[in-house]
Amino acid sequence: MRIVSVVGTRPQLIKAAALMPVLRRRHQEVFVDTGQHYDESMAGAFFAELDLPRPDYSLGVGGGGHAEQTAKMLERLEPILLDERPDAVLVYGDTNSTLAGALTAAKLGIPVAHVEAGLRSFDRRMPEEINRVVADHLSRWLFAPTPTAVANLATEGIVQGVLMVGDLMQDLAARVAADVRDPAVLGPIGKRLGMRLTSGGYLFATIHRAENRNPAALRSWAATLAAAGSLDRPVVLALHPGTRAALEREGITLADGVAVVEPQGYRTTLSLQFHAAAVLTDSGGVQREAAWLGVPCLILRDRTEWVEAVAESGGRMVVVGLDGAKTLGELARLAPADTSPALAAERARTLRLAPAGAAAAVAAALEAAAP
Ligand code: UD1
Ligand code: UDP
Repeated sequence: MRIVSVVGTRPQLIKAAALMPVLRRRHQEVFVDTGQHYDESMAGAFFAELDLPRPDYSLGVGGGGHAEQTAKMLERLEPILLDERPDAVLVYGDTNSTLAGALTAAKLGIPVAHVEAGLRSFDRRMPEEINRVVADHLSRWLFAPTPTAVANLATEGIVQGVLMVGDLMQDLAARVAADVRDPAVLGPIGKRLGMRLTSGGYLFATIHRAENRNPAALRSWAATLAAAGSLDRPVVLALHPGTRAALEREGITLADGVAVVEPQGYRTTLSLQFHAAAVLTDSGGVQREAAWLGVPCLILRDRTEWVEAVAESGGRMVVVGLDGAKTLGELARLAPADTSPALAAERARTLRLAPAGAAAAVAAALEAAAP
């Protein structure tokens, strides 16, 4: 099959890295990068680290409001799809690049394949929820990562073309697990970041969701991180540039116990998660990775689409939203300073992470449908 894949953001580059080698064994792929993410640390660095080929088309869209960003993508994608005439357009996840890829293809009558279909937060204030709902309703193939995603689609009347394939990001995490499991990886990372990192001796955080960038939310999680981190046990916060800009706009300075670092590479991020005492995040990808790696994880959102990850964590993952007292209470329960190093060492000894087989399932399903 001849497939145009559309990516644009950090998590989509990561998902593409999981699927691409498998997809390209069976299909011809044209790779389009919308350029929604554009900093070296958010996009460029992942090409080299994850062996991604240069895009066949780089749309250079960049940031901007939702309408402006999506409109630029629609305008720039259409001539490419008209020219390439693919059998399918493949989109990942729930970003504006996902929406633009699905909408442009559907309007041209090109079948859409949606990887990570069926996830729902049931909160239409989230831009991601709107993107997912539209992409799912326009898709011919709906590759669902979880049984809940399949059920969500059925509730909306979508049953045709739905396939439970598992989670692509688990395939990639399993591929690099051996590179991150030795606590010695923290040595060079700490050196590069200018801090001493010990196994179980720090917390790791990422925050970027739109709802966590409004002034009240910024103040709330900044106070929680200030209380959670200390010079003895810092919070290492890999800060998304959009969140950094929001903090600067509000004039908010983070506490000394919060070590703010640039967005990190994929293996570094997995390493920082795996050896942390606990992870605090609003990221969809990071919360699943924390689940697979067995690290305590506090989800800084009111709800999550990844209900299985939380349900199967045995209480190790907790949705805490912006409730500071709850976050600190759960940290005290799940990651006490005195026992966290031993817990982290035990995780490093026992890590077993199998691939989900999602990449192979997606490639095979598309092959079965090839014209
Ligand atoms: C987007 C996705 C979100 C996903 C996240 C992954 C949408 C609506 N949101 O959010 O679902 O979880 O990517 O990280 O598609 N910026 C930079 N440099 C970059 C990228 C962004 O400075 O390389 C700044 C810009 O100020 C930009 C802002 O971040 O305007 C927001 O970026 P954008 O891509 O619109 O949304 P994200 O918050 O990254
Ligand atoms: N990630 C990364 N560097 C960072 C923060 C996250 O490589 O500094 C990775 C993370 O390990 C996961 C993916 O980015 O694989 C998640 O993407 P992100 O949090 O940007 O978006 P979301 O998953 O919430 O859509």
